[in-house]
Amino acid sequence: MKIIIINGPNLNLLGKRETDIYGNLSFEEFFQKLKDAYPNIELSYFQSNVEGELIDKLQEVGFSYDGIILNAAAYTHTSVGIGDAVKAIETPVVEVHISNTFAREEYRHQSYISAGAKGVILGFGLQSYELALQSFISE
Ligand code: DQA
Repeated sequence: MKIIIINGPNLNLLGKRETDIYGNLSFEEFFQKLKDAYPNIELSYFQSNVEGELIDKLQEVGFSYDGIILNAAAYTHTSVGIGDAVKAIETPVVEVHISNTFAREEYRHQSYISAGAKGVILGFGLQSYELALQSFISE
């Protein structure tokens, strides 16, 4: 089973960025633990701060992978383009967020991703990614 995690802007700073909200672990450390815990899954990871690069990656993997775990970060709340890409591809997308975006500022309550997503998992810290992964495994 081929699954990719796609992270949007500023998530390369996890572990350093607003640690009260996003925690102290870097995504690389977390990703290595996740790969070790699920050795039978072909798990890959892509991060970009650039909207078009996220769309390119969704299009690249979106007709051959079994699942996409997408945290579009701030673009979640602004990007019609990423929302359209999620709808255009065949691979199911699970939208994830580390924080509970509904418990934060109102502009974070809007998502351009959710309508095209298979499901949404948010508010469980980095565990949100693992829950999304499990949702693909237990299909
Ligand atoms: C986030 C929530 C977004 O509102 C924010 O812009 C992020 C991270 C999260 O994972 O909680 O960068 O997607």
